[in-house]
Amino acid sequence: MSGTRVRLGVNIDHVATIRNARGGRHPDPVRAARIAAAAGADGITVHLREDRRHISDADVNLLRRAIPLPLNLEMAATEEMVGAALIARPARVCLVPERRAELTTEGGLDLTAAKESVLRTQAALAAASIPMTLFIDPDLEMVARAPDLGAQAVELHTGRLANAAPSGQGDALAELREAAAAAAALDLEVHAGHGLDYNTAGLVAAVEHVRELNIGHFLIGEAVFTGLEAVVRGMRRVLDDVAGTSA
Ligand code: PXP
Repeated sequence: MSGTRVRLGVNIDHVATIRNARGGRHPDPVRAARIAAAAGADGITVHLREDRRHISDADVNLLRRAIPLPLNLEMAATEEMVGAALIARPARVCLVPERRAELTTEGGLDLTAAKESVLRTQAALAAASIPMTLFIDPDLEMVARAPDLGAQAVELHTGRLANAAPSGQGDALAELREAAAAAAALDLEVHAGHGLDYNTAGLVAAVEHVRELNIGHFLIGEAVFTGLEAVVRGMRRVLDDVAGTSA
């Protein structure tokens, strides 16, 4: 046990994915965020993608005003996204790499290749007093570059651990431990996320210096199983009530 309470950021992108499948308003990400808040989330995370495949600009602005928790906006380091961030004014921004065709964020930022765009983005965010996190692989060279780019925190990509067979988890965890210790030594707050479930979230939360996990896909997927029974029973009651009153 690390002894430190690790914050839980709940990523609600895939509530919007389901909503967008029909183009209507249900299920509403704001309602999901309120449920997450009531259940113990410490923050709400959304990724505003260039193609707006799930969360929209309107969602970000609504969430920012309607929820009682800090909003963590994940976005690419582009002029368009800076514009969206300056309108929404989230509690903080997490810069992520983005490739149009990817199913999800496949790796961390390359802070060498992206240096100029990160610096430009950081300057605009800092002028609006919005702190910046950098989403990076647990790679010591990337960790070392983060302070010079104005980051307050790094979020370590946990995909390798999430995808590892049990025999490979030890190496993936060792890499996370080393990166977390290096980041903390540079006064960077350490966050982690990607692909975490009950098992791997527990492993990462126990890594020294980790202060926050951001988790989305597993939580929204698992909610189907913990929530479906109640919804089907609810619909059964609706139909039974009609039968009762029309009999
Ligand atoms: N952290 C970052 C920076 C991400 O890009 C994502 C995916 O949007 C997550 C955490 C959450 O990953 P998952 O949905 O796999 O839990």
